[in-house]
Amino acid sequence: MALQLHPLHPLFAAEAFGIDLTQPLADEDRKQINAAMNKYGVLVWRGQPLTEPQQVAFAKSFGPLDIGLKKLFNRPERLSDERLIDISNVDAQGNVSKRDSPKNLSNFANQLWHSDSSFQDPRAAYSLLHAVVLPSSGGNTEFADLRAAYDALEADLKAECATLSAEHFALHTRILLGDDAYTDAQKKAIPPATWPLVHTHPGSGRKLLFVGVHARQVIGWPVSESRVFLSDLLEHATQRPFVYAHQWRVGDTVMWDNRATLHRGRRFPISERRELRRTTVDFTPEAMLEAAA
Ligand SMILES: [Fe+2]
Repeated sequence: MALQLHPLHPLFAAEAFGIDLTQPLADEDRKQINAAMNKYGVLVWRGQPLTEPQQVAFAKSFGPLDIGLKKLFNRPERLSDERLIDISNVDAQGNVSKRDSPKNLSNFANQLWHSDSSFQDPRAAYSLLHAVVLPSSGGNTEFADLRAAYDALEADLKAECATLSAEHFALHTRILLGDDAYTDAQKKAIPPATWPLVHTHPGSGRKLLFVGVHARQVIGWPVSESRVFLSDLLEHATQRPFVYAHQWRVGDTVMWDNRATLHRGRRFPISERRELRRTTVDFTPEAMLEAAA
C-alpha cells in the first residue's frame, strides 16, 4: 500500500498512512517518505506502537543515527539500545524522577524552540519521536516551519540575514535556564557549530531562516546585540500561524526535519509519567534526497 498524506496545517505537516512502520522499509516506501518529508517537514503516524528495536530499524533506514547531547552525560540508561534517546521523566530504575533531578533539569530545555543538535556539524536531519506513556494533560509538541518564516520576512531583513551566520552551542540552553553544573570537559566535548542564518533546504530547494535557542551569537556582532536580534528572529519564526501543535496519543510517531523546522515540548504535570523515545538521523546521505512530493 502506497504512502497517503493528509495535510494537518496550511503551511506544512501532514498525517501519513499506508506504510507499516514495524516492518523493514521497502526502498520505494523510503523514497516516498523522503519526498513527503521534503514537502511537509513534519509527518505524523498514528496508532502504530513500536518496540525499541522496531523504532531503531525504521529510523536507520534514513541514515546513520546520532545521540546528540547524550554524548556529554554518563547517566545510567533504561532503554535497550544506546541509539534511543529517552525523552522521559523516568529514571534508570523506572521511577518517575524527582522534580529537581538532573534529568528533569536538562529536559526543561526541550520546552524552548530548537532544532535538534544544531550545535554540531553535521547537524541532525530527521528526528523521530514515539509516544509510549503520556500524562493526563499537557505535553504537546509544537513545530514551526522555518521556510514559511523566511518567506514572511521583510525584504530588508531577508537581505541582512543572508549576510549573517550564527554560532550554536550545545549547553547554551541549559546554562540559560540556570543548569550550569557542567565540567570544562563537558563544555568542550562538542565544539560550537556555525550556520548561516539563511540557507537553502537541501530537500526542497526552499530558503529558510535557521534560528533556535541553541544559537548564542551572531558571528562578528556583540553578544548583547546578537541575543536580542536572534530573539526577535525566533519570535518571528514561531508566530502562531507558522506553528502546528501535536497532541500526542500512545502509539504515535512524529518525524520531523530539523533542517526545516523548530520544535518545543510543552509543560505537563511533572509528577506524572511521560515516556517518549527519540531516534535522530545524523544526516541524510545525498543519495537519499528525493524531490518534494
Ligand atoms: Fe528536541
